[in-house]
Amino acid sequence: MSIGVFDSGIGGLTVLHALDRHLPSADIVYLADQANTPYGGRPGEEIVDLTRACCIRLFDAGCDLVILACNTAAAVALRRLQQTWLPDYRRALGRPVNVLGLIVPTIEAATGVDWREARAEREDKLEKLDILGIFATPATATSRVYEIEIAKRSDAVAVFSEPCPTLARQIESGEADETLRPVVEGHVAALTRRIGRPPDRAILGCTHYEIIADLFRAALPPGTPLIHQPEATADAVARYLARHPEYDAGRGGERRFLTTGRAGDQNGLAARFWGSRLSFQAAA
Ligand code: DGL
Repeated sequence: MSIGVFDSGIGGLTVLHALDRHLPSADIVYLADQANTPYGGRPGEEIVDLTRACCIRLFDAGCDLVILACNTAAAVALRRLQQTWLPDYRRALGRPVNVLGLIVPTIEAATGVDWREARAEREDKLEKLDILGIFATPATATSRVYEIEIAKRSDAVAVFSEPCPTLARQIESGEADETLRPVVEGHVAALTRRIGRPPDRAILGCTHYEIIADLFRAALPPGTPLIHQPEATADAVARYLARHPEYDAGRGGERRFLTTGRAGDQNGLAARFWGSRLSFQAAA
């Protein structure tokens, strides 16, 4: 058996990269829904349907656990699938399978508060407001998932989300840094104007953006900490697997890369991030 890592495109490679370090001997199948990317401007019901179809592909490919390495899918579809689809599907399949997201691990990394401590933290008065900027797809920003989940954990963090409607598509099609830089700078400037000052810390709340994290670092004031979502997610997955031996992550360290879109080499941004040429096979 193995772990499935899912994204609409190449963004989830950033999470896979971190999983490589945390779970080197796990067998991992990466699935990119490049026939339907980007997800970020689609209606919620479509995002739920596409995410469910990709989870089924990964379970059919032998995965026990699917990680939604896609903020848009996690923000819009994860709870729906966990509550209304997974229990029956699991029964029909006759083996333990599960779907996990990446937003809660990221929020725990940003607040230092897990859900058990959330209530205690709320009572703890802090003087300084910590401003967290979230760069995300329109669907993730509209879901307000970061605002809602952070409010449960801390009164001391104010969250401002900046929707970036074109960025995931531009990264997916491998646009050059010179084209991407002004787009990133524009979003950082827009968020800064809205807050009235730059954010104290930032989350790249779309896994595609991590691929061009250097452009965000350059556009934000020097030294602005970026919460590292892939690392937080990989760490949470490793701890989850340690608590749940019923899910078999494999032990051969095998990596498979599948796409619903055009099979073959991925663009230069993906190769630069990955450190070598990267080729995806057609998903069955
Ligand atoms: N990389 C994904 C995310 O984290 C999806 C971006 C998109 O498909 O719009 O949101």
